[in-house]
Amino acid sequence: MAIISSKQESEPENQPPAPSRDRSNPPRVDLLQPQATDYEQGKQEDSIRPQRFADYIGQKDLKEVLDIAIKAAQARNETLDHLLLYGPPGLGKTTMALILAASMGVSCKITSAPAIESPRDIVGLLVSLKPGEILFIDEIHRLSRMAEEILYPAMEDYRVDITIGKGKGAKTRSIALQKFTLVGATTRAGSLSSPLRDRFGLVQRLRFYQPDELSQIILRTAQILQTEISDDGAAEIAVRSRGTPRIANRLLKRVRDYAQVKAAAAINATVASQALELFQVDPCGLDWTDRQMLSVMIEQFNGGPVGIETMAAATGEDTQTIEEVYEPYLMQIGYLQRTPRGRVVTASAYKHLGFKPPNEQLSLLQ
Ligand code: ADE
Repeated sequence: MAIISSKQESEPENQPPAPSRDRSNPPRVDLLQPQATDYEQGKQEDSIRPQRFADYIGQKDLKEVLDIAIKAAQARNETLDHLLLYGPPGLGKTTMALILAASMGVSCKITSAPAIESPRDIVGLLVSLKPGEILFIDEIHRLSRMAEEILYPAMEDYRVDITIGKGKGAKTRSIALQKFTLVGATTRAGSLSSPLRDRFGLVQRLRFYQPDELSQIILRTAQILQTEISDDGAAEIAVRSRGTPRIANRLLKRVRDYAQVKAAAAINATVASQALELFQVDPCGLDWTDRQMLSVMIEQFNGGPVGIETMAAATGEDTQTIEEVYEPYLMQIGYLQRTPRGRVVTASAYKHLGFKPPNEQLSLLQ
Protein backbone atom coordinates (compact mmCIF):
# COMPACT_ATOMS: atom_id res chain seq x y z
CA MET A 1 0.00 0.00 0.00
CA ALA A 2 1.29 3.41 -0.76
CA ILE A 3 0.31 6.72 0.65
CA ILE A 4 0.43 8.77 -2.51
CA SER A 5 1.48 11.82 -0.65
CA SER A 6 1.37 13.13 2.81
CA LYS A 7 1.40 16.81 3.41
CA GLN A 8 2.38 18.62 6.51
CA GLU A 9 0.83 21.93 5.91
CA SER A 10 -0.09 24.51 7.53
CA GLU A 11 -31.16 -2.54 -22.14
CA PRO A 12 -31.27 -5.24 -25.17
CA GLU A 13 -30.01 -3.61 -28.27
CA ASN A 14 -28.39 -3.98 -31.66
CA GLN A 15 -24.69 -3.51 -31.54
CA PRO A 16 -23.17 -1.24 -34.16
CA PRO A 17 -19.97 -2.45 -35.69
CA ALA A 18 -17.21 -1.56 -33.26
CA PRO A 19 -15.08 1.12 -34.84
CA SER A 20 -11.60 -0.09 -35.36
CA ARG A 21 -9.86 1.66 -32.55
CA ASP A 22 -6.62 0.76 -34.26
CA ARG A 23 -6.06 4.41 -33.70
CA SER A 24 -5.67 4.99 -37.43
CA ASN A 25 -8.80 6.92 -36.59
CA PRO A 26 -7.93 10.39 -35.47
CA PRO A 27 -5.87 9.90 -32.37
CA ARG A 28 -7.39 10.10 -28.93
CA VAL A 29 -6.92 13.56 -27.55
CA ASP A 30 -5.47 12.70 -24.19
CA LEU A 31 -5.23 16.40 -23.50
CA LEU A 32 -8.93 16.19 -22.67
CA GLN A 33 -8.78 13.29 -20.24
CA PRO A 34 -9.92 14.55 -16.84
CA GLN A 35 -7.83 12.02 -14.89
CA ALA A 36 -4.51 13.30 -13.59
CA THR A 37 -1.38 12.10 -15.35
CA ASP A 38 1.54 10.88 -13.23
CA TYR A 39 3.18 14.26 -13.82
CA GLU A 40 0.10 16.11 -12.66
CA GLN A 41 0.06 14.07 -9.47
CA GLY A 42 3.62 15.12 -8.76
CA LYS A 43 5.06 17.93 -6.74
CA GLN A 44 5.59 20.13 -9.81
CA GLU A 45 1.88 20.84 -9.94
CA ASP A 46 1.70 22.01 -6.33
CA SER A 47 2.69 25.54 -7.34
CA ILE A 48 -0.49 26.02 -9.34
CA ARG A 49 -2.79 24.36 -6.80
CA PRO A 50 -4.70 26.91 -4.72
CA GLN A 51 -3.70 26.60 -1.09
CA ARG A 52 -6.48 28.64 0.54
CA PHE A 53 -10.23 29.05 0.05
CA ALA A 54 -9.55 32.66 -0.97
CA ASP A 55 -7.55 31.44 -3.98
CA TYR A 56 -9.95 28.64 -4.92
CA ILE A 57 -12.12 29.81 -7.81
CA GLY A 58 -15.62 28.32 -8.27
CA GLN A 59 -17.64 25.79 -6.22
CA LYS A 60 -19.16 28.71 -4.31
CA ASP A 61 -21.85 26.71 -2.48
CA LEU A 62 -19.43 23.98 -1.46
CA LYS A 63 -16.94 26.52 -0.12
CA GLU A 64 -19.67 28.14 1.93
CA VAL A 65 -20.82 24.82 3.41
CA LEU A 66 -17.25 23.90 4.31
CA ASP A 67 -16.47 27.32 5.71
CA ILE A 68 -19.41 27.00 8.10
CA ALA A 69 -18.42 23.44 9.06
CA ILE A 70 -14.83 24.53 9.76
CA LYS A 71 -15.84 27.54 11.86
CA ALA A 72 -18.35 25.48 13.85
CA ALA A 73 -15.86 22.67 14.49
CA GLN A 74 -13.18 25.15 15.53
CA ALA A 75 -15.55 27.01 17.87
CA ARG A 76 -16.43 23.71 19.56
CA ASN A 77 -12.82 22.59 19.52
CA GLU A 78 -13.83 19.45 17.66
CA THR A 79 -12.63 17.62 14.60
CA LEU A 80 -14.47 18.24 11.37
CA ASP A 81 -17.25 15.79 10.46
CA HIS A 82 -16.33 13.10 7.95
CA LEU A 83 -16.85 14.46 4.45
CA LEU A 84 -17.72 12.71 1.19
CA LEU A 85 -16.91 14.66 -1.98
CA TYR A 86 -18.36 13.34 -5.22
CA GLY A 87 -18.38 14.43 -8.83
CA PRO A 88 -16.54 13.92 -12.11
CA PRO A 89 -12.73 13.70 -12.09
CA GLY A 90 -10.52 16.79 -12.33
CA LEU A 91 -12.78 19.20 -10.45
CA GLY A 92 -10.57 19.64 -7.40
CA LYS A 93 -11.56 17.09 -4.76
CA THR A 94 -7.97 16.54 -3.57
CA THR A 95 -7.26 20.26 -3.62
CA MET A 96 -10.35 20.84 -1.50
CA ALA A 97 -9.16 18.28 1.08
CA LEU A 98 -5.75 19.95 1.27
CA ILE A 99 -7.33 23.38 1.71
CA LEU A 100 -9.59 21.97 4.43
CA ALA A 101 -6.57 20.63 6.27
CA ALA A 102 -4.75 23.96 5.95
CA SER A 103 -7.81 25.85 7.21
CA MET A 104 -8.11 23.55 10.22
CA GLY A 105 -4.36 23.83 10.83
CA VAL A 106 -3.86 20.07 10.54
CA SER A 107 -1.99 17.79 8.16
CA CYS A 108 -3.54 15.57 5.50
CA LYS A 109 -2.61 12.02 4.52
CA ILE A 110 -3.56 11.18 0.96
CA THR A 111 -4.19 7.71 -0.38
CA SER A 112 -6.55 5.98 -2.78
CA ALA A 113 -8.68 2.88 -2.30
CA PRO A 114 -6.84 0.76 -4.90
CA ALA A 115 -3.60 1.40 -2.99
CA ILE A 116 -5.13 -0.16 0.15
CA GLU A 117 -4.47 -3.77 -0.63
CA SER A 118 -4.96 -5.50 2.70
CA PRO A 119 -6.78 -4.84 6.00
CA ARG A 120 -3.36 -4.32 7.51
CA ASP A 121 -2.84 -1.29 5.20
CA ILE A 122 -5.94 0.52 6.40
CA VAL A 123 -5.28 -0.37 10.06
CA GLY A 124 -1.71 0.94 9.73
CA LEU A 125 -2.96 4.18 8.23
CA LEU A 126 -5.62 4.74 10.89
CA VAL A 127 -3.31 3.97 13.78
CA SER A 128 -0.71 6.43 12.47
CA LEU A 129 -3.13 9.39 12.35
CA LYS A 130 -2.37 12.36 14.55
CA PRO A 131 -5.08 14.25 16.47
CA GLY A 132 -7.43 16.09 14.10
CA GLU A 133 -5.57 14.89 11.02
CA ILE A 134 -7.39 14.48 7.72
CA LEU A 135 -7.27 11.13 5.94
CA PHE A 136 -8.14 11.57 2.27
CA ILE A 137 -9.16 8.39 0.42
CA ASP A 138 -9.62 8.86 -3.30
CA GLU A 139 -11.87 6.49 -5.30
CA ILE A 140 -13.39 5.40 -2.01
CA HIS A 141 -16.07 3.37 -3.84
CA ARG A 142 -13.28 0.90 -4.68
CA LEU A 143 -12.48 -0.02 -1.07
CA SER A 144 -12.63 -3.73 -0.32
CA ARG A 145 -15.42 -4.97 1.90
CA MET A 146 -12.94 -5.80 4.64
CA ALA A 147 -11.32 -2.37 4.56
CA GLU A 148 -14.79 -0.80 4.70
CA GLU A 149 -15.72 -2.81 7.76
CA ILE A 150 -12.56 -1.67 9.50
CA LEU A 151 -13.50 1.92 8.70
CA TYR A 152 -16.98 1.77 10.29
CA PRO A 153 -15.91 1.76 13.99
CA ALA A 154 -12.99 4.02 13.10
CA MET A 155 -15.36 6.64 11.70
CA GLU A 156 -17.99 6.25 14.42
CA ASP A 157 -16.04 5.66 17.61
CA TYR A 158 -12.42 6.29 16.63
CA ARG A 159 -11.38 2.70 17.24
CA VAL A 160 -10.23 -0.26 15.22
CA ASP A 161 -11.19 -3.79 16.14
CA ILE A 162 -8.57 -6.35 15.29
CA THR A 163 -8.88 -10.10 15.56
CA ILE A 164 -5.93 -11.96 17.00
CA GLY A 165 -5.62 -15.67 16.31
CA LYS A 166 -7.92 -17.95 14.35
CA GLY A 167 -10.90 -20.21 14.95
CA LYS A 168 -12.32 -20.74 18.42
CA GLY A 169 -9.39 -19.18 20.19
CA ALA A 170 -9.58 -15.93 18.20
CA LYS A 171 -9.88 -12.79 20.28
CA THR A 172 -10.93 -9.29 19.31
CA ARG A 173 -9.00 -6.32 20.60
CA SER A 174 -9.94 -2.69 20.19
CA ILE A 175 -7.32 -0.04 19.55
CA ALA A 176 -8.27 3.55 20.33
CA LEU A 177 -7.51 6.03 17.54
CA GLN A 178 -6.91 9.75 17.60
CA LYS A 179 -9.95 11.74 16.54
CA PHE A 180 -9.60 12.33 12.80
CA THR A 181 -11.60 13.41 9.76
CA LEU A 182 -12.08 11.10 6.81
CA VAL A 183 -12.48 12.84 3.48
CA GLY A 184 -13.66 10.35 0.87
CA ALA A 185 -13.70 11.21 -2.83
CA THR A 186 -15.60 9.39 -5.52
CA THR A 187 -16.77 9.77 -9.08
CA ARG A 188 -19.54 7.25 -8.31
CA ALA A 189 -21.50 8.20 -5.22
CA GLY A 190 -24.12 5.61 -6.21
CA SER A 191 -21.55 2.80 -5.96
CA LEU A 192 -20.82 3.47 -2.31
CA SER A 193 -22.41 1.00 0.10
CA SER A 194 -25.08 2.66 2.21
CA PRO A 195 -23.41 1.81 5.56
CA LEU A 196 -20.32 3.68 4.39
CA ARG A 197 -22.23 6.59 2.86
CA ASP A 198 -24.33 6.97 6.02
CA ARG A 199 -21.24 7.46 8.15
CA PHE A 200 -20.31 10.72 6.42
CA GLY A 201 -21.71 13.76 8.22
CA LEU A 202 -21.29 15.90 5.11
CA VAL A 203 -21.93 14.71 1.56
CA GLN A 204 -21.11 17.31 -1.07
CA ARG A 205 -21.04 17.37 -4.83
CA LEU A 206 -18.51 19.22 -6.99
CA ARG A 207 -19.99 20.72 -10.13
CA PHE A 208 -18.52 21.44 -13.53
CA TYR A 209 -17.07 24.97 -13.70
CA GLN A 210 -18.61 27.74 -15.75
CA PRO A 211 -16.49 29.23 -18.59
CA ASP A 212 -15.97 32.49 -16.67
CA GLU A 213 -14.67 30.55 -13.65
CA LEU A 214 -12.33 28.56 -15.88
CA SER A 215 -11.11 31.81 -17.46
CA GLN A 216 -10.23 33.13 -14.01
CA ILE A 217 -8.42 29.87 -13.19
CA ILE A 218 -6.46 30.09 -16.46
CA LEU A 219 -5.50 33.72 -15.79
CA ARG A 220 -4.38 32.79 -12.28
CA THR A 221 -2.29 29.83 -13.49
CA ALA A 222 -0.79 31.93 -16.32
CA GLN A 223 0.33 34.46 -13.76
CA ILE A 224 2.01 31.76 -11.67
CA LEU A 225 3.68 30.39 -14.81
CA GLN A 226 4.66 33.91 -15.83
CA THR A 227 2.87 33.55 -19.14
CA GLU A 228 1.35 36.54 -20.87
CA ILE A 229 -2.28 35.96 -21.80
CA SER A 230 -5.20 38.22 -22.69
CA ASP A 231 -8.73 37.85 -21.31
CA ASP A 232 -10.00 36.62 -24.68
CA GLY A 233 -7.13 34.13 -24.90
CA ALA A 234 -8.13 32.71 -21.51
CA ALA A 235 -11.80 32.63 -22.57
CA GLU A 236 -10.91 30.68 -25.74
CA ILE A 237 -9.12 28.01 -23.70
CA ALA A 238 -11.87 28.01 -21.06
CA VAL A 239 -14.70 27.07 -23.44
CA ARG A 240 -12.71 24.05 -24.65
CA SER A 241 -11.84 22.78 -21.17
CA ARG A 242 -14.92 20.58 -20.51
CA GLY A 243 -15.81 22.48 -17.34
CA THR A 244 -12.69 21.01 -15.71
CA PRO A 245 -9.80 23.01 -14.19
CA ARG A 246 -7.31 20.19 -14.65
CA ILE A 247 -8.00 20.22 -18.40
CA ALA A 248 -7.94 24.04 -18.51
CA ASN A 249 -4.47 24.15 -16.95
CA ARG A 250 -3.23 21.38 -19.23
CA LEU A 251 -4.48 23.19 -22.34
CA LEU A 252 -2.94 26.43 -21.13
CA LYS A 253 0.48 24.76 -20.98
CA ARG A 254 0.16 23.40 -24.52
CA VAL A 255 -1.01 26.78 -25.85
CA ARG A 256 1.88 28.44 -24.03
CA ASP A 257 4.34 26.16 -25.88
CA TYR A 258 2.62 26.93 -29.19
CA ALA A 259 2.69 30.66 -28.56
CA GLN A 260 6.36 30.53 -27.67
CA VAL A 261 7.44 28.49 -30.69
CA LYS A 262 5.04 29.53 -33.43
CA ALA A 263 3.58 32.85 -32.54
CA ALA A 264 6.32 34.42 -30.45
CA ALA A 265 3.63 36.49 -28.84
CA ALA A 266 1.39 36.61 -25.84
CA ILE A 267 -1.56 34.22 -25.86
CA ASN A 268 -4.65 35.84 -27.37
CA ALA A 269 -7.85 34.30 -28.75
CA THR A 270 -6.37 33.75 -32.23
CA VAL A 271 -3.22 32.04 -30.94
CA ALA A 272 -5.23 29.91 -28.50
CA SER A 273 -7.68 28.81 -31.16
CA GLN A 274 -4.91 28.01 -33.69
CA ALA A 275 -3.04 25.97 -31.09
CA LEU A 276 -6.11 24.07 -29.94
CA GLU A 277 -7.13 23.32 -33.50
CA LEU A 278 -3.69 21.84 -34.05
CA PHE A 279 -4.17 19.71 -30.92
CA GLN A 280 -7.62 18.67 -32.24
CA VAL A 281 -9.51 20.11 -29.32
CA ASP A 282 -12.83 21.16 -30.73
CA PRO A 283 -14.43 24.56 -29.92
CA CYS A 284 -16.77 22.86 -27.41
CA GLY A 285 -14.01 20.71 -25.92
CA LEU A 286 -15.21 17.51 -27.61
CA ASP A 287 -12.65 14.86 -28.52
CA TRP A 288 -12.70 12.01 -31.01
CA THR A 289 -14.56 9.69 -28.64
CA ASP A 290 -17.34 12.19 -27.92
CA ARG A 291 -17.81 12.88 -31.62
CA GLN A 292 -17.70 9.20 -32.56
CA MET A 293 -20.27 8.31 -29.91
CA LEU A 294 -22.67 11.06 -30.95
CA SER A 295 -22.17 10.39 -34.68
CA VAL A 296 -22.93 6.65 -34.34
CA MET A 297 -26.05 7.47 -32.32
CA ILE A 298 -27.20 9.90 -35.03
CA GLU A 299 -26.24 7.92 -38.13
CA GLN A 300 -27.13 4.42 -37.00
CA PHE A 301 -29.82 4.94 -34.37
CA ASN A 302 -31.55 8.16 -35.47
CA GLY A 303 -30.26 9.91 -32.40
CA GLY A 304 -31.51 7.30 -29.91
CA PRO A 305 -32.63 6.14 -27.48
CA VAL A 306 -29.48 4.06 -27.39
CA GLY A 307 -28.17 1.87 -24.58
CA ILE A 308 -24.86 2.34 -22.85
CA GLU A 309 -23.50 -0.97 -24.24
CA THR A 310 -24.04 0.28 -27.79
CA MET A 311 -22.20 3.47 -26.98
CA ALA A 312 -19.36 1.40 -25.57
CA ALA A 313 -19.20 -0.72 -28.71
CA ALA A 314 -19.26 2.42 -30.86
CA THR A 315 -16.27 3.96 -29.17
CA GLY A 316 -14.24 1.09 -27.80
CA GLU A 317 -14.53 2.67 -24.34
CA ASP A 318 -15.80 0.74 -21.35
CA THR A 319 -19.24 1.56 -20.02
CA GLN A 320 -17.86 2.88 -16.74
CA THR A 321 -15.63 5.44 -18.48
CA ILE A 322 -18.55 6.53 -20.64
CA GLU A 323 -20.76 6.97 -17.59
CA GLU A 324 -18.18 8.71 -15.46
CA VAL A 325 -16.18 10.75 -17.93
CA TYR A 326 -17.95 11.29 -21.26
CA GLU A 327 -21.65 11.43 -20.43
CA PRO A 328 -21.53 13.93 -17.56
CA TYR A 329 -19.92 16.58 -19.75
CA LEU A 330 -22.10 15.86 -22.79
CA MET A 331 -25.18 16.14 -20.57
CA GLN A 332 -23.84 19.28 -18.95
CA ILE A 333 -23.49 21.06 -22.31
CA GLY A 334 -26.91 19.77 -23.40
CA TYR A 335 -25.72 17.39 -26.14
CA LEU A 336 -27.00 14.20 -24.55
CA GLN A 337 -30.03 13.29 -22.46
CA ARG A 338 -30.54 10.22 -20.32
CA THR A 339 -34.05 8.79 -20.59
CA PRO A 340 -35.48 5.59 -19.09
CA ARG A 341 -35.22 4.01 -22.59
CA GLY A 342 -31.61 5.01 -23.20
CA ARG A 343 -29.48 7.95 -24.23
CA VAL A 344 -30.79 10.51 -26.73
CA VAL A 345 -28.79 13.02 -28.79
CA THR A 346 -30.14 16.58 -28.67
CA ALA A 347 -30.69 19.02 -31.56
CA SER A 348 -27.67 21.10 -30.43
CA ALA A 349 -25.40 18.08 -30.82
CA TYR A 350 -26.80 17.40 -34.31
CA LYS A 351 -25.98 21.00 -35.28
CA HIS A 352 -22.55 20.97 -33.67
CA LEU A 353 -21.58 17.86 -35.66
CA GLY A 354 -22.99 19.25 -38.90
CA PHE A 355 -26.16 17.09 -39.07
CA LYS A 356 -29.70 18.38 -39.54
CA PRO A 357 -31.71 17.90 -36.34
CA PRO A 358 -34.70 15.49 -36.77
CA ASN A 359 -37.33 18.23 -36.30
CA GLU A 360 -35.81 20.34 -39.05
CA GLN A 361 -35.70 17.28 -41.31
CA LEU A 362 -39.44 16.76 -40.65
CA SER A 363 -40.33 20.38 -41.31
CA LEU A 364 -38.47 20.20 -44.65
CA LEU A 365 -40.65 17.25 -45.68
CA GLN A 366 -43.89 18.98 -44.72
N1 ADE B 1 -6.39 25.42 -10.23
C1 ADE B 1 -7.07 24.28 -10.35
N2 ADE B 1 -8.31 24.41 -9.82
C2 ADE B 1 -8.41 25.67 -9.35
C3 ADE B 1 -9.46 26.41 -8.72
N3 ADE B 1 -10.65 25.88 -8.46
N4 ADE B 1 -9.19 27.68 -8.39
C4 ADE B 1 -7.99 28.22 -8.66
N5 ADE B 1 -6.99 27.58 -9.26
C5 ADE B 1 -7.19 26.32 -9.61
